[in-house]
Amino acid sequence: MKRSRINAIIHDADAFIRSHGFVLPPFAYWSPDEMRARRAEIDGIVDARLGWDITDYGAGQFDTMGLFLFTTRNGRLSDLQAGGGMAYAEKIMISRKDQISPMHRHIVKAEDIINRGGATLAIEMFESDADGHIDQKKSVIVYSDGIRREFQPGGTIHLAPGESVTLMAGNWHKFWGEGGDVLIGEVSTVNDDHTDNIFEQPIGRFAEIEEDEPPRHLLVSDYGRWL
Ligand SMILES: [Fe+2]
Repeated sequence: MKRSRINAIIHDADAFIRSHGFVLPPFAYWSPDEMRARRAEIDGIVDARLGWDITDYGAGQFDTMGLFLFTTRNGRLSDLQAGGGMAYAEKIMISRKDQISPMHRHIVKAEDIINRGGATLAIEMFESDADGHIDQKKSVIVYSDGIRREFQPGGTIHLAPGESVTLMAGNWHKFWGEGGDVLIGEVSTVNDDHTDNIFEQPIGRFAEIEEDEPPRHLLVSDYGRWL
């Protein structure tokens, strides 16, 4: 993706998020120079990979396959393994109308996917078989706001604003905005996007970036190179 496109997506996403009454933390608006200047005090941002995350899954077709994310908090895997402490994470995301986040599952992460406002959020789901692959025969059982619901393999749950679903590690899922753009909340177990996303198709998790103008803000995938 071109950096100019990333900058424009950040601008539009910020306006969409604010239009639903959600406000990002102050560091979201720091410039790359400000982040560098404050590097000594922001291990908690850099190590936890908090911040802007825009992906086209490496395919270069953001409008049809992509996702906007901002990670607002992310705990420590060591705490999760120890059985206490900061074992949680939170993201705010935007799926645009008919913009697919492709079929994937997680190894560790359980996640509540929440429609925080906008249009309908559609999530297609499968269970895993014994090898972790998509099970075409097993029905899918999930809890939606605490209510048990059962779907055929490949069934789609539709979430209106305010509704959510709990996806456990091993639940395959693919999602998109239906009828319009959707503001999505994610409350989950500690998140490691380098190791914990298993995609059905051989695709990447992060965008490749062409630097055609300076970044307005750094993406989490920029931290290694820029900071
Ligand atoms: Fe997921």
